[in-house]
Amino acid sequence: MEKPIRKEYWENVYQSKEFHQVGWFQHHPTVSLDIIEFINISENAKIIDIGGGESYLVDHLLALGFKNIQVLDISAKAIWKAKSRLGKNAEKIKWITEDIVDFNYEKDFDLWHDRAVFHFLLKKDEIDQYIDNAKNAIKQGGHLIIGTFSDKGPDKCSGLPVKQYSISNLESTFYPHFKLIQALNLDHYTPSGQVQNYSFCCFERT
Ligand SMILES: C[S@@+](CC[C@H](N)C(=O)[O-])C[C@H]1O[C@@H](n2cnc3c(N)ncnc32)[C@H](O)[C@@H]1O
Repeated sequence: MEKPIRKEYWENVYQSKEFHQVGWFQHHPTVSLDIIEFINISENAKIIDIGGGESYLVDHLLALGFKNIQVLDISAKAIWKAKSRLGKNAEKIKWITEDIVDFNYEKDFDLWHDRAVFHFLLKKDEIDQYIDNAKNAIKQGGHLIIGTFSDKGPDKCSGLPVKQYSISNLESTFYPHFKLIQALNLDHYTPSGQVQNYSFCCFERT
């Protein structure tokens, strides 16, 4: 999918659906928060949630005391909705409306988090560009947490085709710039009761 069409697609999703109706909705981003606790980063860690949309992750990060948080999403509407929910707290976050493929200008992140975004990239040049962007943006010893549909998961997300990844596929995809330090498969239950199997990996930037 070309970039302008991709943006239009996601603007329309956020225009037409409430957050609790979408397949990826979760009340509590438990797995992400467990991994963030496991890697034990400081409150001043520079964190970015890629394709954060309306996720509550950012609310939890603020509540945990993290002070240097950014949220990037292709959809301005998604960012607007997340900011509206957070109210005054939204001022504590840096918001970026951008396609992740074009996010190649900021550095020194301690943590890059991506749940259900990378798997939408299907073309080799865009996958390579994402990896390059992550590689350049995350500092040495920093972490990349990534969750995609697994090889046992659906082949579509939000009506769009996705690339499914087993844990070992993710490991080889991000090798040699990232070393796998934690991984799990888990079932996510959508609001309509469907089961989606995810691969979640945590890598350290080598
Ligand atoms: C399946 S949703 C997941 C949202 C969020 N990460 C969560 O777990 O609740 C995918 C999100 O990625 C955003 N997105 C899709 N493609 C993107 C891209 N190329 N660059 C940046 N954001 C993108 C969408 O707007 C949407 O918010």
